[in-house]
Amino acid sequence: TDLAHIRNFSIVAHIDHGKSTLADRLIQETGTVKDRDMKEQLLDSMDIERERGITIKANTVRIDYTADNGEHYVLNLIDTPGHVDFAYEVSRSMRAVEGSLLVVDSTQGVEAQTLANVYQAIEADHEIVPVLNKIDLPASDCDRVAEQIEDVIGIDATDAIQVSAKTGQGIHATLESIVTHLPAPKGNLDAPLKAMLVDSWYDAYLGVIVLVRIMDGTLKRGMRVKFMSNNTLHHVDRVGVFRPEMEMVDSLGPGEIGFLTASIKQVRDTRVGDTITNDRNGTEVALDGFKPAQPVVFCGLFPVDSSEFEDLRDAIDKLALNDASFSFEMETSAALGFGFRCGFLGLLHLEVIRDRIEREYDIELITTAPSVVYHIFMRDGAMTELHNPADMPDMTLVDHLEEPRIKATILVPDEYLGDVLKLCQDRRGIQEDLTYAGTRAMVVYDLPLNEVVFDFYDRLKSVTKGYASFDYHMTGYREDNLVKMSILVNDEPVDALSMMVHRDRAEMRGRAMCEKLKDLIPRHMFKIPIQAAIGGKVIARETLSALRKDVTAKCYGGDATRKRKLLDKQKAGKKKMRQFGKVDIPQEAFISALKMD
Ligand code: GTP
Repeated sequence: TDLAHIRNFSIVAHIDHGKSTLADRLIQETGTVKDRDMKEQLLDSMDIERERGITIKANTVRIDYTADNGEHYVLNLIDTPGHVDFAYEVSRSMRAVEGSLLVVDSTQGVEAQTLANVYQAIEADHEIVPVLNKIDLPASDCDRVAEQIEDVIGIDATDAIQVSAKTGQGIHATLESIVTHLPAPKGNLDAPLKAMLVDSWYDAYLGVIVLVRIMDGTLKRGMRVKFMSNNTLHHVDRVGVFRPEMEMVDSLGPGEIGFLTASIKQVRDTRVGDTITNDRNGTEVALDGFKPAQPVVFCGLFPVDSSEFEDLRDAIDKLALNDASFSFEMETSAALGFGFRCGFLGLLHLEVIRDRIEREYDIELITTAPSVVYHIFMRDGAMTELHNPADMPDMTLVDHLEEPRIKATILVPDEYLGDVLKLCQDRRGIQEDLTYAGTRAMVVYDLPLNEVVFDFYDRLKSVTKGYASFDYHMTGYREDNLVKMSILVNDEPVDALSMMVHRDRAEMRGRAMCEKLKDLIPRHMFKIPIQAAIGGKVIARETLSALRKDVTAKCYGGDATRKRKLLDKQKAGKKKMRQFGKVDIPQEAFISALKMD
C-alpha cells in the first residue's frame, strides 16, 4: 500500500471508558470480521483479561476501509493497555503510530489515566482526535466534557466526535476522521530495511511472534535480517498482518505494521525498541532504543505444598518466556522453604502472574509482602539494591537508605477531597499541586512508592466510593529514616513477614501487625507471643492465649468413620498452613497482616 493510503493509530483512554468496545466496533463496521464471528472484546485475547476487563498485552489489527472520497485505506490500530502498571507498554507502542483517538466517557469526563495516556501521545508527536463515548446514556454531557478536555488537556475539542460504541452511532464519523485528520506515515521504500520491534510474545505453534513497524525499505519472507542491538541474524520464516487473526503476506513496506516469525525461541531474545535491518548493507543508524521495563515491586512466591516446588519452577519458566518484564530468582526462606523472589512492574502485574500460576498451573501459593527496591549505602561507600527485607545487612554497616518516590495524580469529586488528602498525608505524601476541573479536584502528590504498592489503591477506592482515579510514575530515589521491622511468632523470626518501614511509623505498623496476626493465627495448645522488633528491640507485642481443643472428643470413640472424617478435615485445613517452629500460620495471614486499615 502506498504511504498516502495508510493511517496508523492507537486509542488512549482511562480504564472502562470504552476503548475495547470502540475498537471492536471499528473492526465490525468495516467488515474486517464477519458479524457472526464477532465476540465481545475481540482484542482482549487472554481469558484473564476478559474476566477482569483489562487489556494487558498490546494488540494490533489491520482494517481495510473505503472512505467517502472513494479511496481505499489501510488503517492499523495498535491497542494499548490502560492500567498504570503497563504505562511503559503504552509508551513504546505509541512510537509506532502517528495518531491517537482520545476516548473519554461523556458521562464521566477526563480521568487520571486519560491524562497520563494522552501526555504519552503528545510526547510521541501524535495528531489527536477526541472521541466522546457513551452518548447513548442519559448522563452523557458532551459539552461539559469537551470543555474539560480543552481546559485540562489543552487540545481543541470543537470537532470532538460524539460516539456510542455500544449502538454504533458515530462510528462512521470516527473512521472518516481517522482518514482526514490523522497524518499518513512517512518512509522511504528504496532505503535499506529499518523496522521497529514494537512488541513480541510467545506462541505455542509459531514460536516468538515479533510485532514490527516498517520505517523504511521492505520486509520480505525468506530474507535474512539483523537485530541491531545484539547483532544477531535471523531467517524470516513468515511475514504477516493481523485482521485480527494472523494472515500471511509476502512482504511489508514503509508505514506498515505487521509481524514476523524467525524461529526465535524466547521472548527474552527480542528487545523491544530494537531496530531490525538487512543482514548486509543494512541501515547505519538505529532507531532510538527504548529502555527496558524495570521491575519495581518484588515479592516472594512459595508453594503452599513444598513438594510442588519443581512445578512452580516450571510454571514460572513458562510465564517468563512470554513476559520479559517479569524477573525471578530462586529464594530460600527459613520459614517457607524453597521458592522464588519475583519482580513485577506493579501490583496488578503481580496479581496477574500469581493468578495465572494458581489457576493455569494449579499451584497454591504463599505470597510474601510486596517490597520496593531500596538503595543501601554502606559505610564503606558501596551501594547495593535491596529486593528483599530479609537480606537487609546489619544496620551498623549501613550509612543510609534511599527509597523510590512517585508522583501521583488523583482526580476526585470535591466531596471526597478531604479523605484523599488525609490518606496521602497518612502515607507520608507531600502535596505538590491542587487544582480544579469543574467540580473535580486534581491533586498531585509526591509519595514513597513503598506506601502505595500494597493497598493504597484499594484504600483510595474505598474512601472515595470508587469515584477517584489514580495514576503515577516513578520520579527517583530519596533518603529517609527507614528500618527493617521483624516479626517474631513464638520467639521465632518469620522472615516472610519482615518489612521495611519508616522509623516514625514503625510502632504503629508493628502494633497493627501484631493485632492482625493475633486474629489470623489459630490458637494452639500453648501460649504464643507475637512480637514486632527493630534490631533486637521489641516495639510491639500481643499474646495469643492457649486453647485446649480436642476435635474428636465429641465422638465418644464410637464412630470410627466420623472420627476419621474430622481428622481429614483438620488435615485439609492444615494444608493451607505453614509451620513456623511449633506454630501453624495460615496462608492468608501473609497478605492480610500487611493491610492497614
Ligand atoms: P480496558 O480495556 O479495561 O482499558 O477498558 P476499555 O476502556 O476498553 O473499556 P471497555 O470497552 O471494556 O468498556 C467498558 C464498559 O463500558 C463495558 O461494560 C462496555 O460495554 C461499556 N461501554 C463501552 N462503550 C459504551 C457505550 O458507548 N455506551 C454504553 N452504554 N456503554 C459502553
